[in-house]
Amino acid sequence: MANIWIKKPMEAYEADIKKSQLKRVLGKWSLTAIGIGAIIGGGIFVLTGTGAYYNAGPALALSFVIAGIACVFAALCYAEFASILPVEGSAYAYAYGTVGEIFAWIIGWGLILEYAMGSMTVAVSWSGYFGKLLKMFGLHMPAWLTTDPQTYLAAGNSGFSMNLPAFLIVWVVIGILLRGTKGAAKANNFIVMLKVSAIIFVIIVGVFFINPENWHPFIPAATTITENGVSHSAYGYAGVVAGASAIFFAYVGFDAVSTQAGEAIDPKKDVPFAIIASLVICTLLYILVSLVLTGMMHYTDFNPLGKYPDAIKAPVAYAFDIAGQAWAGYIITIAATVGLISVLMVMIMGQSRIFLGMSKDGLIPKTFAKVNPVTGVPSKNLVILGAVISVIASFTPINDLAHMTSFGTLFAFTMVCVAVWVLRVKEPDLQRNFKVPALPVIAVLGIVINIYLIINLSKEAQMYSLGWLVIGFFIYFLYSKRNSKLQNGGFGETFKAEQEPLEDVDIDIDNKH
Ligand code: ALA
Repeated sequence: MANIWIKKPMEAYEADIKKSQLKRVLGKWSLTAIGIGAIIGGGIFVLTGTGAYYNAGPALALSFVIAGIACVFAALCYAEFASILPVEGSAYAYAYGTVGEIFAWIIGWGLILEYAMGSMTVAVSWSGYFGKLLKMFGLHMPAWLTTDPQTYLAAGNSGFSMNLPAFLIVWVVIGILLRGTKGAAKANNFIVMLKVSAIIFVIIVGVFFINPENWHPFIPAATTITENGVSHSAYGYAGVVAGASAIFFAYVGFDAVSTQAGEAIDPKKDVPFAIIASLVICTLLYILVSLVLTGMMHYTDFNPLGKYPDAIKAPVAYAFDIAGQAWAGYIITIAATVGLISVLMVMIMGQSRIFLGMSKDGLIPKTFAKVNPVTGVPSKNLVILGAVISVIASFTPINDLAHMTSFGTLFAFTMVCVAVWVLRVKEPDLQRNFKVPALPVIAVLGIVINIYLIINLSKEAQMYSLGWLVIGFFIYFLYSKRNSKLQNGGFGETFKAEQEPLEDVDIDIDNKH
């Protein structure tokens, strides 16, 4: 009888690391840039208006603090794991060694929502920004080339349509990733410099257009907003927390650093550093941007039924427009268009490395684990991902489902908080280069906040995401459990065969004292 709670032994991870064909080319700052590359994207430029108008008012900055804290708890737990297990696979790999196979599988399956579905939504947002960029130069693409068929037909059109820019950008990114991680990291570093400069620019220039009266009252009294016959509660302290769920997507991505551990030069030290550094840098920038934005524009001016109906769609650019600085809106559009490319790049890269880990363990087909010996990247894996992501992004109205990305992320965060605690209790003597301070407390707070944020996501996102996890269970019992190397004694053999020369392993897990 197969044991669905079977755990991957630490020695099997050592054997994996020894056999890994990935190239260790990423240093501390490249890893940090990977984190920032994945975090700063459309979220900060788009969701701030929604969060301010529907949820928090000027206290949006506090929503960013709350979401940031939820992420910091999870980030500390990721960092401890990364300091023990320098392998690709992120939360999936951590759960396999601690809570057992069925959990690891369902986390890996849930991570598809974060990374693959996240990539699809980012590709579609990129297409939107690209369209705006073209408009700035007086160029227009026809609707049938920029819209998925369902949306196109619903708008009263007929005939063929697809989101061509979304399709093409996925293949541009796949092209970069196929050439190797070093080149991709260089491209990412460049884009990160550009988008961080744009954010700093927004903050510095925006400060001159702040009207402090817009911040009063900072936390508006709780009320109800009724729109098209539907009522939502807004503002007050509950609004600040709901705002944290609404803008959570803007933080998605820092955990992508942990998917790259297999390519880090000194993973046990640098991955924990990069996870925390990228998160702290982005949290500070986000808090400042939201303060500037709500200082520049009164939060009620983001009302889509009010005097600036379009402000909520591109709040940051709009705030500058209203301040008479339309040129700043151009800079923001350029930064977002270029910036989203690195989000897409890191998300697809992350998904491919999670699949690589799952495939090595036999839970998904072998082809995902084949690494090209010249470039050191899993080429077939990337091409399959490119095909699926590009087709879904260009032919389905995926943008509505961005909340599912937040679900997948929050689910993984919760599980990592659980797993780090389990491992501390079960394996207290493992060598940990980084330890979560005040452990049960931080893990429990992380679990509570992340579950709370999941509960605050849209009901649709919760329903679809749970449906996704149920499909995952079926696949586990029909395919993964039967093909699992661990269930079939595969790791036992590898592990015995390779135990001898373990001292020669470059990246020695060195797990017991
Ligand atoms: N955090 C990323 C963004 O905001 C996913 O686009």
